[in-house]
Amino acid sequence: MVVRVGIVGCGTVGTGVVRLILENSHLIQQRTGIRLELSKVADRDWEREREIEVPHHLRTTDYREVLENSDIVVELVGGKTFAKQLILEALKSGKHVVTANKHLLAEDGKEILQEAQDRGLFLGFEASVGGGIPIVKVLRESLSSNRIKSIQGILNGTTNFILTKMLEEEENFEEALNQAKALGYAEADPTLDVDGWDSAHKIAILSMLAYGFYVPFEEVHVEGIRNVELLDVELGKELGYTLKLLAIAKRVDSQVEVRVHPTFIPSDNPLAKVSDVYNAVLLEGDFVSKVMLYGKGAGSHPTATSVLSDILDAVKFMACKEGHPQRFFWSSEKLEINKNFYSR
Ligand code: NDP
Ligand code: HSE
Repeated sequence: MVVRVGIVGCGTVGTGVVRLILENSHLIQQRTGIRLELSKVADRDWEREREIEVPHHLRTTDYREVLENSDIVVELVGGKTFAKQLILEALKSGKHVVTANKHLLAEDGKEILQEAQDRGLFLGFEASVGGGIPIVKVLRESLSSNRIKSIQGILNGTTNFILTKMLEEEENFEEALNQAKALGYAEADPTLDVDGWDSAHKIAILSMLAYGFYVPFEEVHVEGIRNVELLDVELGKELGYTLKLLAIAKRVDSQVEVRVHPTFIPSDNPLAKVSDVYNAVLLEGDFVSKVMLYGKGAGSHPTATSVLSDILDAVKFMACKEGHPQRFFWSSEKLEINKNFYSR
């Protein structure tokens, strides 16, 4: 099965997706039988240097070329206005959509998801929460039989990177934020990271999946790390605590409490050990008990992996609709068992 994938927005994540498709499409085809073909990649600036050269014949500055030439449209521009217009236009023209845009989904997700559902189209957003961590799939699929009691997580890579640099290298806030920007972790508007709104958008998306409602942001406590000082972090350390920006959604009887704020957690708690750009989510379900997921929460390659997960789910969705049987994943790579691992 050949599927045409078009991308709008070739920045940090978009470039990672292009690279992953170009480098691993053969492996993906061996495993799934699906041949992903990059159709067009739109960006407004093709002069900028990227981690890979996007082939010239794929480049365009006109997003409509992506819409016209793709079965699946991947939105990776960020922001709200144009991204929303693009996603709705893609859905209205019958395209399946994949996006990493948590800001848009948290605020306008209801309208967008409804549009996809009304048109019988796939809308994937695995990359919107937790970078490379497959948290959306776990809540949407694996744990869908459970009542979720609580979700607690470190959901922002940039602020966790900053807090780690302050704790471990005594760096100041601005220095660490500049590094996070240079590494492609921060949002185009980093105040979203620093002031807790990116974490709030992500916990809102997870709450939507776990509890089936859209979070009214005016009723949510959101506090970021802007006012955290080196001294706070150091004093916490002396007393055996680590400061983390936590996002929490907790069911209490018939109510759900949703909040984001810096929290001192005991240094032997597993969440305290989540450092650098890593994220972690601790879920508690009524039957499964506790499940913890951990991985890189931002950056080009981990996030691209989540985007690809959605692209492949979109293909399976298409295949199901067309009545094709699903194929089990199988690798035909020639690997052998290493019997001599003791000697290494
Ligand atoms: P970038 O800013 O690196 O990339 C966005 C790209 O889209 C830029 O090249 C930008 O150009 C381009 N662009 C903006 N508007 C248009 C337009 N109208 N037409 C064509 N191209 C346009 O962002 P990221 O890749 O970091 O993020 C993309 C999305 O993924 C965002 O929603 C973000 O929140 C989300 N995300 C990001 C993660 C990360 O680690 N970076 C992780 C998880 C999700 P220009 O630079 O000129 O504006
Ligand atoms: N700016 C976000 C973060 C990107 O730092 O976590 C990943 O969603």
